[in-house]
Amino acid sequence: MTVTIVGSQLGDEGKGGVVDVYGDAADVVVRYQGGDNAGHTVVSDGEKYKLSLVPSGAVRGKVGVLGNGCVVNPETLFEEIDGLRERGLEPDVRVAERAHVILPYHRALDGIEEDEKEDLAAGTTKRGIGPTYEDKAGRRGVRIGDLLDPDTLRERLEYVVPQKKALAEEVFGKTTDERFDVDHLYELCLEYGERLADEEMTVDCGTYLQERIDAGDQVMLEGAQGTSLDIDHGVYPYVTSSNPTAGGATVGSGLGPGVVGNGEIVGIVKGYLSRVGTGPLPTELGGVEGQTPGYDPETADEAEEELATYIRDEGGEYGTVTGRPRRVGWLDLPMLRHAARASSFTGLAINHVDVLAGLEEVKIGVSYDFDGEELLTMPPTTEQWARCEATFETFEGWPEVDWAEVAEDGYDAIPENAKTYLEFVSDELDVPIYAVGVGPGREETVVLEDPFA
Ligand code: GDP
Ligand code: IMO
Ligand code: MG
Repeated sequence: MTVTIVGSQLGDEGKGGVVDVYGDAADVVVRYQGGDNAGHTVVSDGEKYKLSLVPSGAVRGKVGVLGNGCVVNPETLFEEIDGLRERGLEPDVRVAERAHVILPYHRALDGIEEDEKEDLAAGTTKRGIGPTYEDKAGRRGVRIGDLLDPDTLRERLEYVVPQKKALAEEVFGKTTDERFDVDHLYELCLEYGERLADEEMTVDCGTYLQERIDAGDQVMLEGAQGTSLDIDHGVYPYVTSSNPTAGGATVGSGLGPGVVGNGEIVGIVKGYLSRVGTGPLPTELGGVEGQTPGYDPETADEAEEELATYIRDEGGEYGTVTGRPRRVGWLDLPMLRHAARASSFTGLAINHVDVLAGLEEVKIGVSYDFDGEELLTMPPTTEQWARCEATFETFEGWPEVDWAEVAEDGYDAIPENAKTYLEFVSDELDVPIYAVGVGPGREETVVLEDPFA
């Protein structure tokens, strides 16, 4: 069977940790979309692993597959594999031949276009994700399979690279370098191809996975990003360029919808909201300059800023690379209703319950006031979403406790008020709670249900 892990908000909900908790029973862990824009943390025996491309299961000796729906930067892939090997692991990673390759010009163009877009910029990770998916849809991409086929590769590059060079130089007025040079790219791609072939990493993903399932293996599908960053279901244009929602798991792995739909689909929820990047956020607390639209620290509400800083500090909500503060907010139920519907969640893992401990009261945005109308789910356009004002329900806070002990004792040991909070969310979404995260470590998770059982 399959278990699919889907982010229900704006990414960084703790998907990597949940994959790790449930991954024991899995034989294969598959990423089905996105690329090295993701950052999935697994904390194992006090060791912290931050993976951006290699599926989280690789830390536990599972086969990790990058599905056809992914965009793969071989540079990052090899770096991560080498890094894990240096730490004594032997990651077994396979890459779909149908997956698209992020090439140096994609990264370059991601940066150039972000600077150009100004107000429309999503604040991307500048990893070349958008430009690579653009080329996929434009039918001018280079696929993993092409890296092993020198003639096809040459033909593809000769067609596409001059266009990219012209775009950078003539539309954006930039000077270009070897990242836009056919000969250089050709050599680089051949090197990538050689290593992929030497290590026998490439697979026909859907066929490979179906064979494993037919042989009785358990497959975990690890989503990256989150529902509100989905290109179709998120807050366009402040989104990524793929489908993190469960539909993406079937398209991006080659397993049929019947297979994925017959399995379990676990929505990962952070107990509050965090956001990297721009765009509206109706339940936001305080703001972050340069990311929160219209934010002015001079006129900001002091108490709210203090609360935001508290949650940010407790949750470590600072960029891992830049150290920039992330935007934070209260849980947004309309966003979660939208996510639960779009992905048919069969269970929920609600994380970061420990982060909210110690607050006098905790709020949940339960609906939106949209020009006087009550909305229970997200409106279809981002401009409409920006006009929504959240209506809050207030819950009594819960104390700071020994969370490791709570995790050991189980769900009943969770403070009463926290359980009220969790059960409210579960009831509203009509989806049972499968797990509760009370700390970053694997053992700091209260497991109520094992989806593979
Ligand atoms: P992902 O992108 O969804 O895999 O999540 P990230 O790894 O980017 O971000 C989640 C962060 O929160 C990581 O540093 C995790 O170790 C940490 N984390 C996950 N679950 C919990 C939890 O329940 N409590 C706390 N305090 N931290 C958590
Ligand atoms: P994980 O898997 C949080 C955000 C970026 C930007 C937008 C588009 O760790 O949850 P992109 O580089 O994808 O074109 O950027 O999406 N973003 C994420 N935010 N977690 C992620 O991944 C993200 N991946 C992309 O900040 O706003
Ligand atoms: Mg992350």
